Amino acid sequence: MSTTQESPTAAGSGANASDAFRASAARRGAAETTQERADRLFRRTLEAIYEVIRTEEVSYPEFQAVKRWLMDVGEVGEWPLFLDVFVEHEIEKVAAKSQRGTTGTIEGPYYLPGQQRLPAVTTLPMRPDEKGDKLVFSGQVRALDGRSLAGAEVDFWQADADGYYSGFAPNVAAGNLRGVVVTDQDGRFAITTIKPAPYQIPTDGPTGAMIAAAGWHPWRPAHLHLMVRADGHRQVTTQLYFDGGDWLDSDVASATKDELVLAPDRRDDGSYAVSYDFELEPAAKS
Ligand code: DHB
Ligand code: FE
Repeated sequence: MSTTQESPTAAGSGANASDAFRASAARRGAAETTQERADRLFRRTLEAIYEVIRTEEVSYPEFQAVKRWLMDVGEVGEWPLFLDVFVEHEIEKVAAKSQRGTTGTIEGPYYLPGQQRLPAVTTLPMRPDEKGDKLVFSGQVRALDGRSLAGAEVDFWQADADGYYSGFAPNVAAGNLRGVVVTDQDGRFAITTIKPAPYQIPTDGPTGAMIAAAGWHPWRPAHLHLMVRADGHRQVTTQLYFDGGDWLDSDVASATKDELVLAPDRRDDGSYAVSYDFELEPAAKS
């Protein structure tokens, strides 16, 4: 048996991310779009591309290279990764304009529903020898008016200390560092986990090739992912980052926001502790 950590390949994590997206799209149902809206969005997208072609005088070899690259992204299943890194942040900012309560940011491609339900004070499922500094992440879920929300769900997922997500990398057990934590009668929770490492988007596929060709870097700062939900309230999807961490000011996915940066306290035993409260606005009336 090999003792070295096998890296997830672009094709491997891409295929898993594509499957996860198809499943979530089925859960969410079809988007309703009028012909007028479709006409406008497709036309304006194409016009934006024509503008680049004209002003940059894009050549035939460049056009053929892009065509081949687009085919490659589809073949290895990297569209969810590419779109969540390079496009989702703008969609999220549009959505955020009409939202109140805790600031959101992108979901990214690595959410998996149906994880283990855990009590308010809990340790996330992890390997006996899980690498990384211990982190106790605690807080309270409240409504906008300050009422605490008992029985709210803090659906939590993160990368391990090598930057890998369970379900998307070989050698990381299903459910590792994921869980749905249910708040206590005061809306509180305390989750023991490890501090994740910065995350590098796969460099061996077409997205990595594009980043290398442009001389960019493939890194996201270390982050925790959360979806927080309670009956009668709008679900918040967000991420929390760590003060002073690498790549905070140059996230490849442009998904950091100042109010989402944590400053954990370091304790004498070398572990970290930090608290963050969530505020949920009422659900939209339908
Ligand atoms: C990607 C990965 C993430 O962990 C994330 O939070 C956002 C995007 C990606 O590889 O596309
Ligand atoms: Fe992530």
